[in-house]
Amino acid sequence: MTLPKRAIAASFLPDQYRYWYSLSKLAMDPLYQAVPSAFADESVPVLDLGCGIGLLLHCLRASGRQLPYVGVDTDAVKIEAARLASARGGHRNADFQVCDLSVRFPEHQGSVALLDVIQYLPEQAQGKLLEQAAQCVSKEGQLVIRTGLADGTWRSAMTRATDRFGHSVGWMKTSFKAQPSADDLRRVLKQYGLQAEFKPLWGRTPFNNWLVVARRSTSAAA
Ligand SMILES: C[S@@+](CC[C@H](N)C(=O)[O-])C[C@H]1O[C@@H](n2cnc3c(N)ncnc32)[C@H](O)[C@@H]1O
Repeated sequence: MTLPKRAIAASFLPDQYRYWYSLSKLAMDPLYQAVPSAFADESVPVLDLGCGIGLLLHCLRASGRQLPYVGVDTDAVKIEAARLASARGGHRNADFQVCDLSVRFPEHQGSVALLDVIQYLPEQAQGKLLEQAAQCVSKEGQLVIRTGLADGTWRSAMTRATDRFGHSVGWMKTSFKAQPSADDLRRVLKQYGLQAEFKPLWGRTPFNNWLVVARRSTSAAA
């Protein structure tokens, strides 16, 4: 289905900045169209790590997915904006909390979303966050990650430069730290019994963005 981009963006009014930000994100970034279908099972709750202003919640609901949703982010201003927009959108079974993931990880069992967040944590903390996220994926759940990958391509360099620029002009309070490699991700996920599928997800952007969907493997050998 096509997302109702204007209706979603209108949930952020009267804040014009967030209205135009969300409208342009939804129009240009293939992430929000692609991710809801990864969360097929309605009964499995999703924890959205580094949820920002909570666009994923709106996209899940617009795609007919009513699964319980909790979004956490270290930025209290974004969490407040996410709460207001969720209320304006009339979304039920959704909660937002301020949480610094480098300090605390919320209790959870089910599915996890980790969209464009890993690169803002120091390398060591990235591994720990991935381990924590992988551990709370249930048998029916999935871990859905969108990240730039360190693979030596021009797209990879462009993604790093843009993340650094975003911090320098104040779009992102946290600064870019490091991109993981596909091998880094596979290794940690496999260690926690998850099998991952990688797909490029850069659409018409110049970025090296990948969608990684990891599920609990059915065989011990995975
Ligand atoms: C590029 S935004 C992605 C927002 C959202 N996941 C999306 O895709 O629309 C990255 C988010 O990660 C959050 N973040 C960065 N470091 C964090 C940390 N240590 N704990 C929690 N959130 C963090 C930022 O505040 C920001 O909202």
